[in-house]
Parts: sequence; C-alpha cells; structure tokens
Amino acid sequence: MAARPTTQASLTESQSETVSETTPAVLLTQPLVLVGLMGAGKSSIGKRLASRFGVAFADADTEIEKAAGRTIPEIFEAFGEEEFRNGERRVIRRLIESGGPRVLATGGGAFMADDTRALIKAEATSLWLKADFETLFERVSKRSNRPLLKTADPKATLRELMQKRYPVYAEADLVVETFRVPIEETVDKVYHAVLDHLAREAAPPQ
Ligand code: S3P
Repeated sequence: MAARPTTQASLTESQSETVSETTPAVLLTQPLVLVGLMGAGKSSIGKRLASRFGVAFADADTEIEKAAGRTIPEIFEAFGEEEFRNGERRVIRRLIESGGPRVLATGGGAFMADDTRALIKAEATSLWLKADFETLFERVSKRSNRPLLKTADPKATLRELMQKRYPVYAEADLVVETFRVPIEETVDKVYHAVLDHLAREAAPPQ
C-alpha cells in the first residue's frame, strides 16, 4: 500500500507566509479565500491583494507541497488524486482555523469539497476569480504542472471542469470577472469589490 503523504505542518506560519510591513491589517477580520479554476490568477492576485490589505498571504498548493515534501505532480503520481484532496482539506482547515485575517489562494478543486466549502462559508469570505476560457487555457498551457490537464484533449478537459465547477464556484460570497488587463488593474478591482462587501456587511440593517 502506498504511504500516505505527510501533511502535518513542518513550518510555522510565520516562516511560510509573507506579510506586508507597511499597511495595517484594519479591514479584513477573517480570511479572504480566493477560488476559481487553474490559471485564474489566484496566487499572483492573492499575493498583491494581501499586501494591499496588509495581511499575510498563503497559497494552499504551496503549503501542501511543503507539508508533503513533494510537488503537486509528484503527489498525484505517487499517491493519486484522492490522497492529494485529503491533504488539501487538512491544509486548508489548518490555515483557516489558525485564525486571523489573511488572503488564501486555494487550488481549483478545493472549493468543490463539501466540507471545505462549508468551512470557508462559516469562517471566511470567499471570492471567485472568474476568467474567460481563452485566458485560462493560454495561462495553463504555459506550464505543465497541472496533473488534471494531462489528458489527450486538455482543452476539452478544461471545458468540462468549467461546466462542472462554475455552479459551485458561484456559491462564493463575491465574484470578480478578470480580463486581459495589467495585473494591478485586476488587483484594484478585486480590492474594491472586497471593500464594498465589507462595508455592506458592516452596515446596520435598514
Ligand atoms: C487543481 C488545481 C491546482 C492544484 C491541482 C488540482 C484542480 O491548483 O491544486 O493541480 O483540481 O483544479 P491551481 O488552481 O492553483 O492551478
């Protein structure tokens, strides 16, 4: 039987995250979780967003890799998708339950797990970064690090994932559509969408 990957945290949160020292964390009081398909820009936008809010950034995929001591393709290869998903669940739970505001980029399949989605709904604000198919495909085609797309027809696979996942991603608290514009423009759009959401949440009921 294949050994299970070790997903216990081997690094402390402070070692594994980057925190902006310039902006005070006054606005976000709970984690902001970015969801969406591979190639949507969750990590690159998430990092910049965290710095705008002055909070820590964590990338669930990176944390899974650190905990397992292997890359994601290696985890899929050695243990299969199911074990990867188990590790993903544990890592996301740890990151959310360790408390406090932070921006958390999740892998494209994470929000599909019922328990992870329930946890995010209860303990965090979720935001779906929604990009068009061509943008996603162009981005994922640049790298070969997505095991789910190692199929005879990756384009068709990505379309299938879109069809299956979009109704679930739509359960996120916020949806921001991203276009092919300079990244700072998208970061700005997301930042303001979150600020508007927080203001609405804080407003007394009419
Ligand atoms: C996956 C997305 C990947 C990674 C893994 C599985 C998915 O993360 O978690 O390859 O199921 O969509 P990104 O969305 O960051 O590429």
